[in-house]
Amino acid sequence: MKHRTSPHNSPQSRAPLFDALAKYIKQPKVPFHTPGHKQGKGIDKAWRRLVGDDIFRMDLTVLPETDCLFHPTGVIKQAQALAAGAYHADKSYFLINGSTGGNLSMLMGVLFPGDRIIVPRHTHKSVIAGLIMSGALPIYIHPEVNQEWGLILNVSPEVVEKALIKNPDARAVFVSSPTYHGICCDLGKIVKLSHLNDRIVMVDQAHGPHLLFHPSLPASAMEAGADICVESSHKIISGLTQASMLHVKGPNIDIRDLEEVLLLTQSTSPSYLLLTSLDLARRQMALEGRNLLEKSIAISVKLRSSINKIKGLYCLNPEDVKPFKLDPTKLTVFVDKLGLTGYQASKILNQKYDIQAEMADWDHVAFIFSIADGQSEADSLLRALKALASSHYGRGPLQKLDIQFPSNYPAMSLTPREAFFATYKMVKLKEAVGEISTEFFTVYPPGIPVIVPGERITHEAVEYLETMKRLGAILVGPESGQPGRIRVVAQ
Ligand SMILES: Cc1ncc(COP(=O)(O)O)c(C=O)c1O
Repeated sequence: MKHRTSPHNSPQSRAPLFDALAKYIKQPKVPFHTPGHKQGKGIDKAWRRLVGDDIFRMDLTVLPETDCLFHPTGVIKQAQALAAGAYHADKSYFLINGSTGGNLSMLMGVLFPGDRIIVPRHTHKSVIAGLIMSGALPIYIHPEVNQEWGLILNVSPEVVEKALIKNPDARAVFVSSPTYHGICCDLGKIVKLSHLNDRIVMVDQAHGPHLLFHPSLPASAMEAGADICVESSHKIISGLTQASMLHVKGPNIDIRDLEEVLLLTQSTSPSYLLLTSLDLARRQMALEGRNLLEKSIAISVKLRSSINKIKGLYCLNPEDVKPFKLDPTKLTVFVDKLGLTGYQASKILNQKYDIQAEMADWDHVAFIFSIADGQSEADSLLRALKALASSHYGRGPLQKLDIQFPSNYPAMSLTPREAFFATYKMVKLKEAVGEISTEFFTVYPPGIPVIVPGERITHEAVEYLETMKRLGAILVGPESGQPGRIRVVAQ
């Protein structure tokens, strides 16, 4: 069930951590503790002049008044309990290392070395990193792809069900929903199937911290009955960059194990600015989320339809991703009919029209429309897209790439952990076909690895990476700045 807007006099109107910090900075304490800038006194003057003093005063540390993230007994405990209430969880944890840290903690906190987990191969690299660290063994499943757009959709319940039947010893099922492009899988069905078979369901909901707060948005992990989920409050709602949350519900997660791992994976010096932003982002969503989302959904739906009236552009529609659901606040605009790559279009939008997109791919540009945006932002984007289209219409279409994000993943030859720690040799990427990779190669964003440790490198993957680099994508690998060498298993 969706969150009902909390009244302004309800417990959700409190922000205990924010209140504690706001009170603390008014007191005449003389700080003999970290951070060394001592509440801004030692901060670079130009920076202080630019942004003011109070933000630095609030950059505090573990003190009796501010509580301790790793042994919360005061205002952080209260703030996390309020978050659990707002997110319909039994327990919520504040994270300061993003959903990357959340995914690592979730996998290490739930799984033991040798546990098998059904997991989509097209996950964010932090999930594969969690497999390396936990020693869990992946059973990779594969997403549906929209062939017309060459766009990865998400995993279907049927694919999960097949994997469950084929792997009766799997301990858990992992899904990522929404994807970077806002494509949500049928979490309700996947949870039901998995729970029927006593499997734990983990969800990477990095792109969905808002889902719970509006009835027209796809179901969130907690509503669907997942056992545990991670979400990036900083990506879509008002958390500061790196601020995320982890939510747990039901009896299937051993809280003691999870909390022990959270002590290992997070900085021992959590930023109080990030933690406070989580306290306030939760309050904002609980009290005003529904209204804020109502407005941004209405504007983004209208904007999508206006973009689709522009000759040469196409904005992904909910029908294109069926049977999956599309978060309407994500706008994926295909520009290939203008004869431009997404990278070129994104650059022109930035340099000529002052529009910064979230990400570009070879044939599209993706925009996030959030609760912070209104009609004037929608108008700016529409104006810029119209101008872009009118100056390029007729020059297209872009020659179709004969290579897409590799969907023909090779079978796993070694587990990610075995490969990551294997003795390696360095080879040129071009000469690596057929070898087993010990490392990741990722096009960023979206951060889904093209090559993961343990897989034999395919001709298709190498060709895709080289094509993407030529087109202007950012390749992230250990030697991404170099012509491209990769570590492969020596024997
Ligand atoms: C699906 C998904 N999961 C996890 C992450 C990692 O999130 P964070 O940037 O908060 O560490 C990302 C980041 O882009 C992502 O797209």
